[in-house]
Amino acid sequence: MNVRVVYQSATGNTKKVAQAIARAAGCEAEPVSTATVSEPVEMLFLGASIHAGDVDPSVKKFIEGLDPILVKHVTVFGTGFEGSKDKAIGITKDLLARRGIAVNGKYYFCLGRFVLFNRHHPDFQDLAGAEEFVRSVLTG
Ligand SMILES: Cc1cc2nc3c(=O)[nH]c(=O)nc-3n(C[C@H](O)[C@H](O)[C@H](O)COP(=O)(O)O)c2cc1C
Repeated sequence: MNVRVVYQSATGNTKKVAQAIARAAGCEAEPVSTATVSEPVEMLFLGASIHAGDVDPSVKKFIEGLDPILVKHVTVFGTGFEGSKDKAIGITKDLLARRGIAVNGKYYFCLGRFVLFNRHHPDFQDLAGAEEFVRSVLTG
């Protein structure tokens, strides 16, 4: 199965999760700023978090540039505050659905450090959870 992992991360939290996901999926984690999809992808894991109340413009631009014929399914992941989960996941899922891209109902979200909050997250358990999540997605 052709799997890709693409993420946006301002302070490294989502990058750590992306790297755990990529490890479990057997591929590299690619920053959204340089990733392009020009070959068919069966599962694209896309990581985005909330900054200033929204997902980063680079994520929106990446989704806008996706070809729904090449991208079969997307699974969304993110990090942040428990209270920002619905926004981080929901906005990204919604943008993908508007492009006519099939979005997995399952997603992965864990706490992400912000200044003094959620210290040490994502932690070892968060990353192990991400790897386990990938295995459950890829084995159906
Ligand atoms: C500059 C900045 C702005 C943020 N703005 C918000 C916000 O508006 N709402 C929110 O819930 N979290 C906000 N956060 C918290 C991040 O969503 C959280 O720390 C997330 O894990 C960051 O992921 P990253 O390190 O991959 O960028 C902000 C974090 C940063 C660094």
